[in-house]
Amino acid sequence: MKTRYLDARTPDGLKASVAAACEILRAGEIAALPTETVYGLCADARDAKAVGKIFEAKGRPQDNPLIVHIATPEALDEIACNIPDAARRLAEKYWPGPLTMIFEKKSVIPAVTSGGLDTVAVRMPSHPVIREVILQSGIPIAAPSANRSGSPSPTTAEHVTADFDGVIPLIVDSGCSQFGVESTVISFAVQPPRLLRPGSVTAEQLREELGEIAIDDAILHPLAEGQRVSSPGMKYRHYAPQAQIVLLKGDAAAFSAYTRRHAGDGVYALCFDEDETVLPAVRYGGQADPAQQAARLFAALRELDERGAKLVYGHFPQSDGVGLAVCNRILRAAGFRVIEIESERK
Ligand code: TXA
Ligand code: MG
Repeated sequence: MKTRYLDARTPDGLKASVAAACEILRAGEIAALPTETVYGLCADARDAKAVGKIFEAKGRPQDNPLIVHIATPEALDEIACNIPDAARRLAEKYWPGPLTMIFEKKSVIPAVTSGGLDTVAVRMPSHPVIREVILQSGIPIAAPSANRSGSPSPTTAEHVTADFDGVIPLIVDSGCSQFGVESTVISFAVQPPRLLRPGSVTAEQLREELGEIAIDDAILHPLAEGQRVSSPGMKYRHYAPQAQIVLLKGDAAAFSAYTRRHAGDGVYALCFDEDETVLPAVRYGGQADPAQQAARLFAALRELDERGAKLVYGHFPQSDGVGLAVCNRILRAAGFRVIEIESERK
């Protein structure tokens, strides 16, 4: 298949991209579109056959449900039921934006889309491309991140191209994703509401609106053998580059000293802009700027692979605010390998 590329960064380009995407979705095909979090691989959420093409292209396990993207508050009631007032308040405050909420699903959403669950994840994205496509086509869009299952989520059209050139009919380019990590996912299908995936809408912000929330154990800890998961996505290895990543928890001086002692062939650092290290370094943002770390992390993981890194020492980020999302993604990329370096004598 020949992939068509369109650039949505000019007014004319935006118009052409939206028109082309609407046509493809209406025809039951799939397309990669930018969102404000990461690029998404899109299909009509109501069309089981079209959604099946997403699973096939990604190599995604059938039991891993997709998020349905909408553009109006009314659309929520068309696909979900038993929506608590608290969720409506969150929607008012954070939609359109990087927040996904899970509810009981209605029958217009087929089982393939929801991974066989009786719940559905819903998000109203703010990015003008996907938003306009939903508004103009009237189609609720099922979209996972536009990467092959297991590789880091795409934050540029080049990342999408690396995984899907010649595999899907359309890739729309809108430059770097604004947030760079996938949306916050919170479930209202359980009481109290449970944070399943941290993102740019923070746990602190959710608590402010909801009071008590549960934080899923799988966010910061590896699953025990046979453990039940609240979100099927957590079962699978994620965000993983080829290189083996080991996270170092400690201050700048300890990081610098540790990486000096462990330098070698193919050994790289994944560190903050301020860090000093003798290792060849890929940097993922200012040490005190978790939003910037979120925006740059996935591209940094891909760059490490491109540069042929074999072993990577990553500097562990802070875990409050958006930092929780960064911790969650980098821990998974590292397979939860963490070494405390503060206690070591230099
Ligand atoms: O920012 C985002 O959310 C991006 C953009 C494209 O919108 N999408 C995205 O989708 O990250 P995906 O499929 O890569 O991640 C969706 C996550 C998965 O971990 C999945 O298991 C979980 O949400 N999920 C979806 N529906 C669910 C449900 N009904 N119950 C529990 N978890 C669900
Ligand atoms: Mg994904």
